[in-house]
Amino acid sequence: MGLRARALRTNLLFRSAQLVDIPGLLKIEAQHKTTPHWTREQFVQEIGSPHARLWVAESQSEIKGYVGGWLVASEAQITTLAVEAACLRQGIGEQLLRRAIHEMEKLDVSSVTLEVGRHNGSALQLYQKLGFKIVGSRPNFYNGNEDALLMELSFK
Ligand SMILES: CC(C)(COP(=O)(O)OP(=O)(O)OC[C@H]1O[C@@H](n2cnc3c(N)ncnc32)[C@H](O)[C@@H]1OP(=O)(O)O)[C@@H](O)C(=O)NCCC(=O)NCCS
Repeated sequence: MGLRARALRTNLLFRSAQLVDIPGLLKIEAQHKTTPHWTREQFVQEIGSPHARLWVAESQSEIKGYVGGWLVASEAQITTLAVEAACLRQGIGEQLLRRAIHEMEKLDVSSVTLEVGRHNGSALQLYQKLGFKIVGSRPNFYNGNEDALLMELSFK
């Protein structure tokens, strides 16, 4: 990891997303084919929903990544995760996901689940690194042409 990457990593601020962050969220969302393609309205809804959580990683007033989750009964779900294309492989995605898991664990959920494209190698590696296990699959989940793997991290 270079000096710039190390500096970025240490200067990251993690906080809940606000409406003012939406342009930054949409910018990152548009950089990736593997994000859920949320519109402005969906981000507004997620930020306002009592069941949803959306956190951002910020550096020098710029959004560098975000992670979202849903909490229903005793189960939690990661709904989205993405990092600014120019800042990949600097540990931001892992830090975001660890924060989200930590926040969810504090809310006394028994597990966290998520769906990931079978061919999304970087995300799959990250989820496996943090202890998620493949527990099922959803054929043709993404626009009818890619299977999703259902992954779970159990706290029990
Ligand atoms: C998946 C994503 C969030 C990872 O973010 P990131 O900040 O680049 O990842 P990190 O630097 O924190 O890497 C953490 C771990 O993830 C895995 N990983 C990340 N990128 C990888 C790559 N290109 N190839 C293989 N493994 C990778 C590794 O296990 C890595 O740990 P290591 O550095 O010890 O090898 C990022 O690639 C992204 O935004 N992808 C597009 C959106 C997306 O697909 N989101 C997931 C939807 S389910």
